Amino acid sequence: MIIAIDGPAATGKSTSAKLLSKKLGFTYLDTGAMYRCVTLLILKNNVEIKNHNHLDSLLMQFQLDIKKNKKDYLFFLDGEDVSTDIRSTEVTNNVSAVSALPVVRKKLVSIQRKIAENQDSVVEGRDIGTVVFPNADIKFFIVADTIVRAKRRQLDLKKIGEEKTIDSLVKEISDRDNYDSRRKISPLFKAIDAIEVNTTNTTIDEQVDFMVNKVKLLIKEKNKYE
Ligand code: DC
Repeated sequence: MIIAIDGPAATGKSTSAKLLSKKLGFTYLDTGAMYRCVTLLILKNNVEIKNHNHLDSLLMQFQLDIKKNKKDYLFFLDGEDVSTDIRSTEVTNNVSAVSALPVVRKKLVSIQRKIAENQDSVVEGRDIGTVVFPNADIKFFIVADTIVRAKRRQLDLKKIGEEKTIDSLVKEISDRDNYDSRRKISPLFKAIDAIEVNTTNTTIDEQVDFMVNKVKLLIKEKNKYE
C-alpha cells in the first residue's frame, strides 16, 4: 500500500507522515530530504547547475543511503551522515532551484519508486500523488496558514542553532511556494483525488488521527472486496 502525502513547506507534513508511518507500521520516505541531499552534494562540489556535463557526472557517481535508527531516519551521502547539514539555511535556499532540474528529478523519482514499490510506505513530498505514485492507494494534501508555518519553521531552526525572524521566514516560505508551484516540471499542486488536511489550528495528534482513520476505513473497504 502506498500513502502519498504532498503539500507546501512547513505545513506539518513530515511530522504527520512520520507518525502515520509509525502507527501503521509502514516505511516512511521523506523525498524532500532526498532533494536536500542532492542540493548539498552540488554545493559541496561547487557545481554550477547550468554546467550540464559536470552535473550529469556528479549525479552518476553519488551514493545516497537512508538508514533507520530507533528515533529517526538518517541520510548518508557518500557514507557521511548529512541528516543535520541538509536542514541548513544554505541548503534550504538552494533546494528549490535544484529540485526544478529535470535530471535531478528523473534520478530521484526512480530511486523513490524503487524504495517504495515493494513495501507498505508513506511517501511524502510535492509530486508524490501527482507524478511519482499517481495510483497511490490514498493521497493527502497538507496545507496551513503561512504565519503558522513560519512559526513552525522558526522552532525547527532553533533546534539546529539558527535564529530567524518571522518576517524573513514568511518571505522565504512564500518565495519557495511560488517557485515550487510555478516550476515547469512536476509543479506542486493538489491531485484531484487527494484529501486536503488543513493543519493551521489542529494539533499533531488530531491531524494524524484523522489520517489514520481515513487509511483504516480504506483498508476495511479493500478487505471487503478481497
Ligand atoms: O519538504 P522539504 O522542505 O524538505 O523539501 C525541500 C524542497 O524539495 C522543496 O522546496 C521542494 C522540493 N521537493 C520536490 O520538488 N519534490 C518532492 N517530492 C519533495 C521536495
